Amino acid sequence: MEAHLRVRAALLLSVLALLSLLARSSSQEIQIVNAERRIDLTSHIVKVFLTLKVENIGASPASEILLAFPPTLIDRLALVKAAATVGKRKKKSYLPLDVNPTELPDAPNGTKYFSISLLNPLSAGESATLEVLYILTHSLEPFPAEISQSESQLVYYRDSAIILSPYHIKQQTTFFKTPSTKLESFTKVEPTNRAGTDLKYGPYENHPPYSFSPIIVHFENNNPFAVVEELVREVEISHWGSLQITEHYILKHAGARHKGVFSRVEYQSKPSFSGVPSFKSLLARLPPRVHSVYYRDEIGNISSSHLRTDPRKSELEIEPRYPLFGGWKASFVIGYGLPLQDFLFESPDGRRYLNFSFGCPLVETVVDKLTIKVVLPEGSKDPSAVVPCSVEQHLETKYSYLDIVGRTVVVLEKINVVPEHNSPFQVYYNFNPIFMLAEPLMLVSVFFLLFIASVAYLHVDPSIRK
Ligand SMILES: *[C@@H]1O[C@H](CO)[C@@H](O)[C@H](O)[C@H]1NC(C)=O
Ligand SMILES: *[C@@H]1O[C@H](CO)[C@@H](O)[C@H](O)[C@H]1NC(C)=O
Ligand SMILES: *[C@@H]1O[C@H](CO)[C@@H](O)[C@H](O)[C@H]1NC(C)=O
Repeated sequence: MEAHLRVRAALLLSVLALLSLLARSSSQEIQIVNAERRIDLTSHIVKVFLTLKVENIGASPASEILLAFPPTLIDRLALVKAAATVGKRKKKSYLPLDVNPTELPDAPNGTKYFSISLLNPLSAGESATLEVLYILTHSLEPFPAEISQSESQLVYYRDSAIILSPYHIKQQTTFFKTPSTKLESFTKVEPTNRAGTDLKYGPYENHPPYSFSPIIVHFENNNPFAVVEELVREVEISHWGSLQITEHYILKHAGARHKGVFSRVEYQSKPSFSGVPSFKSLLARLPPRVHSVYYRDEIGNISSSHLRTDPRKSELEIEPRYPLFGGWKASFVIGYGLPLQDFLFESPDGRRYLNFSFGCPLVETVVDKLTIKVVLPEGSKDPSAVVPCSVEQHLETKYSYLDIVGRTVVVLEKINVVPEHNSPFQVYYNFNPIFMLAEPLMLVSVFFLLFIASVAYLHVDPSIRK
């Protein structure tokens, strides 16, 4: 029996070894004919657009293309997306492709990989064009790390002039876009050219797999480095007609730390020279038909918020009590109501579902830790969530006023969230309408008990007086 198992295990191991060998050999049978990389450094969220023309130079079809990342970058990688380009020029369209983290045996220097699954395997000799977008957070390092109120903010961005790849790259070019023309310095890897806010590295010819050439770009970036360290959004569904949203924010300015004392007089009298990298207001994009909006912090309601609504969207501009400088924090709560019929639907199988936006409503903001709690109506059963990105999920129970059995809460958690994560997610559940009567019945019985109690009291009362 045991020998049997051992033989099986050995067989399994050799199959696995063969598979990994195949996977590795397939990675050498792809080459990148042309790669173009555009790195957008204009905000504090770094966006990298890659256009890869890949060719299968092997003998067998290839069904995946690998992307390589240095291990230090993985924690800052918020999102990786890929699409295949079909058609030429004006008829060009993009088909989204699946991208998943993957492992390779003996990856050099701890390289991490993502695998793009092709819709149709690339047969020998064929080529295809792929578009990749990846987003990095916390990747601009303020230098100097501390600045005074009158200084502008300079940051470092580190990367490689040569794209890290498990494949041979025949030709490649990288373009950086900076927010202003103020470029302190940049590493030269000839040919390197600079014009205005653009910095070009390459074209470079014929680089073998895993070529790397570290560079640093040092430039001015006075955009608000708005980072929400923690955001908890509670979405409460009431079958009585509304959706109530409560959002708790801990916001931080993640740029260069503020040095010295803050002078409000200087800040207000010379806004274009003083505290340029600071921010005094933020914009939240809310759904249309929002109502009962409030905005408060530990002290109380803040009236300095402006709500603009039109039939397609609502915009809430919020202004904390003081402008935020590097290293400063503000915590506040935003609450609003929404009409239920815009977000709650019935699926063909009779289940109900909430269709709501994931992510954070604040514009150009990174959320280090996001928690979304969907509070279902009392009596809801078998909840299941469909989320467009990977999240941690669990269930909780919440008791509120007049609840008998408590409400099921679907909790979704994700770290490193960027605005590109703001796409719809759904929470499906079964609901028995008899529970709609639970609250009124509770009220009625409470009143009835009060009534009985008062009758009893009145009845007994005279006897006490006697
Ligand atoms: C691994 O890193 C070392 C030191 O940074 C470098 O010299 C070497 O070329 C790297 N190896 C590969 C395969 O990239
Ligand atoms: C704060 O504002 C909300 C909405 O405008 C209002 O309902 C609430 O009573 C206010 N609270 C205080 C303490 O002023
Ligand atoms: C959810 O809402 C979006 C628009 O906000 C819509 O495009 C999408 O089809 C909806 N999804 C479902 C499953 O109803």
